[in-house]
Amino acid sequence: MRRPIVAGNWKLNGTLDDAEELVVALKNLVKDVEKVDIIIAPPFTVLSIISALLIGTNIKLAAQNMYFENSGAYTGEVSPVMLKDVGCEYVILGHSERRGYFAETSDIVNKKIKSAFANDLTPIMCIGESLEQREADLTFNVIETQLKEGLGGLENELAKNVIVAYEPIWAIGTGKTATKEQAQEVHAFIRGKLNDFFGKDVANAVRILYGGSVKPENVDELMSQKDIDGSLVGGASLKAESFARIVKFQ
Ligand code: PGA
Repeated sequence: MRRPIVAGNWKLNGTLDDAEELVVALKNLVKDVEKVDIIIAPPFTVLSIISALLIGTNIKLAAQNMYFENSGAYTGEVSPVMLKDVGCEYVILGHSERRGYFAETSDIVNKKIKSAFANDLTPIMCIGESLEQREADLTFNVIETQLKEGLGGLENELAKNVIVAYEPIWAIGTGKTATKEQAQEVHAFIRGKLNDFFGKDVANAVRILYGGSVKPENVDELMSQKDIDGSLVGGASLKAESFARIVKFQ
């Protein structure tokens, strides 16, 4: 049995006051949840204060990105060592907004994944096709390439700890969710490819999250699918009540 994960990606949102208010409300709403790994990924500037607020709670901390070097002359970047230092256990890598707006290639994502593991951070690797790619019947090709290049060269011992987030770009922030059948089809494909690349044990162990307009209204049907092990939530993670409801999917 794979333990479910619900992760909140705050993106570029949250001053110190907003962040504190959200976390204080959230930790109270989810305090009795035991069967789900709950993760939040606030912006870098509030990680430190939130880390302190999360001590003794069931909520874990993630960053939204990092650079692959540990230190050096890389103005504006944040390293895995810094993320560990501030209390992060996870890091989101290769989000489509990073790939699209900041020119992140699968090669960069691969370097970041290896660097995250080397620093004892668990990577949440995002993959997903655009609307044009889906309409051109390229979804499976895109997913296979992103998966193969992103996870290339990883030992099985590490590969089984990767968290994959399938996020169709056309469903992100659009209110347009993939149907449970569409999502399950791609999740099953991803698990099949993990089996081809790394074998059965890795394929069975890896948790595959769905992301793209997950809300309280659609989480239950998405989570009813065999290969959907959790969700990566953007917009709906900015309200304590809606994120808590998603964490408490049925
Ligand atoms: P959304 O974002 O839930 O706002 O669609 C999901 C994501 O980009 O991780």
